Amino acid sequence: MASNLPASLKGRDFIHLSDLNREELNAILKLATEMKQEQKQFRVDGKTLIMLFFNYSLRTRTSFETGARQLGINAVTINAMAEGWDLEWREGTVMDGKPIEHAKDAARTLSRYADAIGVRSYPPMVSIEEDRRDELVNTFRSCSNIPVINLESAVSHPCQGLADIMTLRELFPSGMKGKKVVLSWVPNPKPVTHSVANSFLYAASLEGANVVLAHPEGFELDPAIVDAAKKTAQASGGSLNVSTDRKAAFEGTAVIYAKSWASTKFYGKWDKDAELRAQFVESWRVRPDDLRHTHRAKFMHPLPLRRNYVADDAVIDGPDCVVYQQAENRLHAQKALLVGLLG
Ligand code: CP
Repeated sequence: MASNLPASLKGRDFIHLSDLNREELNAILKLATEMKQEQKQFRVDGKTLIMLFFNYSLRTRTSFETGARQLGINAVTINAMAEGWDLEWREGTVMDGKPIEHAKDAARTLSRYADAIGVRSYPPMVSIEEDRRDELVNTFRSCSNIPVINLESAVSHPCQGLADIMTLRELFPSGMKGKKVVLSWVPNPKPVTHSVANSFLYAASLEGANVVLAHPEGFELDPAIVDAAKKTAQASGGSLNVSTDRKAAFEGTAVIYAKSWASTKFYGKWDKDAELRAQFVESWRVRPDDLRHTHRAKFMHPLPLRRNYVADDAVIDGPDCVVYQQAENRLHAQKALLVGLLG
């Protein structure tokens, strides 16, 4: 069966959501919806996807493995983190430390075995400038001659972003224009990357929502990413504003997308970051009361989620929580993506 996906997708990398133009994105999500509704079944038999995980994963790993098998793709997963090995990615390094292999060599080798490579990196989280360069995934991109899929890096989680757009479109079939969407920082006992926040900021902006990025002072996202998302929102008929006033941000919103991220003020100085984060543990946790000031807002989160720290049980188990719908859509959106890249 023909997929009707644009031929331009074939053989491409998927590192950021913005790698897809609107026609490609819409086609992928249309096919994902058809596959979800079981109107269309596809096979991409005989292909191999190799995935490298340098960080924990439940959803990304299992949704890609399951989706690949449903398509007839052979999925090979290396849980590098559990196996205790790492790749070097810095240029010109004298490799006398722990990593015994450079990402360049891994990328060139795996390109000879597989039809696509997926990489989940975990940044060193020492220097914000270094982490923003996203060197591991970008080395795979530049050194592989097959599609590279970013399974989450320091900067971006495009597969989560795809599923989040699909979820928004299911929840609001008439579109996001005129609807308020809040991306809210939430507490976490540990500092985590900006990847999901960056990708959702772009996703909601692309959908033309009136986006509010809400966080305490010191947790600003990369200004270049915020500026780009602002331009995207304006071009899509929406807007993007940044606020440290959580209560005002939540007023009348249709969506609360909760996600924690590390402070930028104390990035790499984790004792100070922990002190700063501790000040907002109670005041930024999502509680049922927060939803009272909204238009019966949908509660979104990419998972995993620390219950009663990020959000109360009553929110997560409540009728407006859509986190499992988001998680399910990972499977369908990624299958459609694989059909586009490999079909
Ligand atoms: N949302 C997400 O990527 O989940 P995992 O970390 O479990 O893959």
